[in-house]
Amino acid sequence: MDWFTGVRNYSAPAVSIVDGSRRRPFTGKTMLIKKPADILPSEITPKEIYQQRRRFLREAAAVAAAGASAALLPSMTQAGQKIPNVRKSPLSTGEKLTSVQDITSYNNFYEFGTDKKDPARNAQNFRTFPWSVAIEGEVKKPAVYQLEDFFRHFPLEERIYRLRCVEAWSMVVPWVGFPLRDLIRRVGPTSRAKYVEFTTLHDPAQMPGQKPGLFGAGLDWPYVEGLRLDEAMHPLTILAVGLYGEIMPNQNGAPIRLVVPWKYGFKSIKSIVKIRFVEKQPLTTWMKAGPSEYGFYSNVNPTVDHPRWSQAAERRIGEDSLFSPKRKTLMFNGYAEQVASLYTGMDLKKFF
Ligand code: MTE
Repeated sequence: MDWFTGVRNYSAPAVSIVDGSRRRPFTGKTMLIKKPADILPSEITPKEIYQQRRRFLREAAAVAAAGASAALLPSMTQAGQKIPNVRKSPLSTGEKLTSVQDITSYNNFYEFGTDKKDPARNAQNFRTFPWSVAIEGEVKKPAVYQLEDFFRHFPLEERIYRLRCVEAWSMVVPWVGFPLRDLIRRVGPTSRAKYVEFTTLHDPAQMPGQKPGLFGAGLDWPYVEGLRLDEAMHPLTILAVGLYGEIMPNQNGAPIRLVVPWKYGFKSIKSIVKIRFVEKQPLTTWMKAGPSEYGFYSNVNPTVDHPRWSQAAERRIGEDSLFSPKRKTLMFNGYAEQVASLYTGMDLKKFF
């Protein structure tokens, strides 16, 4: 469905406008807003269309009232659309960015298959509108947020982070998002909230990897992840709605995903529909699948190997020719200065 027109079966093209070449034109179903002077008397406006137009005007007024930071209209939330008013952040790395091509074609999103190319292939028609995220559990203000609400309430920032996968490869991704703690402060956890549990959409009709069988590695669906409340409140932890200045491509976890840059990539859960504040440590998908291999914390740690491979070094995607040396993996993925204090006194071999 198109965010703006409400037309069903409009499949949002997961394309990028960064290189310009892959952008598909809007179909005729998408409304083109014209200035009054442009509207010819011969154009008869069907009732449905003029209602949509009125809705647009209401939204535009609401956005104007909310200020520049919220200037993202639902009509602009298709993959490939530029996100306006994104602030730079001092928390970004200055490292060379991984290309948009690599970031959007080398993915882990097992709901769409286990091959790195599967998500880009199989998530093209994934419907990311309408999209709501339920905030539940130990909070003073439980709520169901529509995606638009996030855009309206929280100023967006570009956060250029290293992403280190547990499989020993890495990228540098310019995410667009907002600190998770902005949302947490808004909903107000109770004193019983110690952890935050995140859940991905469960929709086997759209996500072939969730059907019985091995296409999605036979994981226990839906995908669940978790953080300790203080980790969730850390300024580096964001909910991302885009990358490279544009709305999130489907294969990267549209329309909203977590990014926790000092942890292995699998903690950064995609396509979130539920955020639950809980007392007990959540049982995550990968802990269920391989408790001896994937721990709750999963902090990037070159001194604690995966039982089946070393975590001391990594391949940087895009520079991995036969001759390029592997990079040394950094403690907490290079964010030790900011996050090491969260784990003072903890045995990180035990709490891997
Ligand atoms: N979230 C869901 N729902 N399903 C997944 O399979 N894969 C994880 C994480 N989030 C995954 C997920 C893994 S293993 C990694 S490395 C990152 O997403 C990859 O994110 P990217 O494809 O945007 O690089």
